[in-house]
Amino acid sequence: MIDLSTEYLGLKLKSPIVVSATPLSESVDNIRRMEDSGAAAVVLTSLFEEQILLEGGALEQDLARGTESYAESLSYLPPLDDYHYSQDKYLRHLDSAKRSVQIPIIASLNGASHGGWTHFAKVLEDVGADALELNTYSLATDPKRTSTEIEQGLVDLVLEIKRNIKIPIAVKLSPQFTSIPHLASRLAAFGANGLVLFNRFYQPDFDIESLNVVPRIAFSTPQELLLRLHWVAILYGQVSCDLAITGGVHSAEGFLKSVMAGAQVAMMTSALHIHGIQHLATVHADLVRWMEEHEYESTNQMRGSLSRCAVPDTSPFDRGNYIKTLSSYTLRQSVAHS
Ligand SMILES: Cc1cc2nc3c(=O)[nH]c(=O)nc-3n(C[C@H](O)[C@H](O)[C@H](O)COP(=O)(O)O)c2cc1C
Repeated sequence: MIDLSTEYLGLKLKSPIVVSATPLSESVDNIRRMEDSGAAAVVLTSLFEEQILLEGGALEQDLARGTESYAESLSYLPPLDDYHYSQDKYLRHLDSAKRSVQIPIIASLNGASHGGWTHFAKVLEDVGADALELNTYSLATDPKRTSTEIEQGLVDLVLEIKRNIKIPIAVKLSPQFTSIPHLASRLAAFGANGLVLFNRFYQPDFDIESLNVVPRIAFSTPQELLLRLHWVAILYGQVSCDLAITGGVHSAEGFLKSVMAGAQVAMMTSALHIHGIQHLATVHADLVRWMEEHEYESTNQMRGSLSRCAVPDTSPFDRGNYIKTLSSYTLRQSVAHS
């Protein structure tokens, strides 16, 4: 009997198959179907910092005082009445999800600055969230702000939230940092129980006819997994917290690779939007079949087996990979043209 069980953020999970934040989990029926199809945990969609501030009146007060610190936020939040997730609705949904399934429910807060909104982590804990995922999506656009300041801001944010809650916290990061291992170690040292790698960077497109910059969201492809595998394989064994992969995991193969890189769990969203929630059952069955065929007894047995600290030749993770990749291309090209 194959043992798929794993531990993530101190939670005992029956497998490494987790559903990342997706609007699909805004329905309790869907969360039930996710559990029935083999999900070991579900991350709820995020409640945004801007939303919490807006409902709390802080944003309106700031605007009334003439500060424009949050003015930009107003333009990208839907009108409050239309917003599908008020704080109250979020809490009722969390409560109802907790009552409806056995698997852990991870609440998600999405914000990057300090301030009153972080108190909401405690409210989520009180309502029953098993853990908190903190999505820190933000982009550096100010040339005066140094990378050190940005990273310190993240560490301080984790400290601020951690001070008020007892449930574990995972930090969902973007890949755009100068030294990911350094930042990851600091976040772990200052209280992050897990790191979720990585946020997808939603690049806006240019409409050259209307001269508009337009938001664009497309589902991921399995190719996006490579960036995550690379960094998890480098971090595994070097940081004192759990690692999770999100981005480009579409199949059992994606889960196997994630665990071999060193992830405790891997997460899916796009594949569920493309193939439906029942895809979880296919992935689960394929995972078991592959492990049986390859005589693995447990996921723990394979964890980190392809990480940087486990492989004899580390050059694929370093500059060596770059050189080899470029030179192999040149060779193929010259054969093709000879
Ligand atoms: C429609 C949609 C909504 C999402 N909403 C959130 C969100 O509220 N919070 C969050 O942290 N990530 C959100 N994500 C990102 C996913 O959780 C996930 O990290 C990302 O899509 C990469 O995983 P994938 O390749 O399996 O799709 C969303 C993704 C999609 C496609």
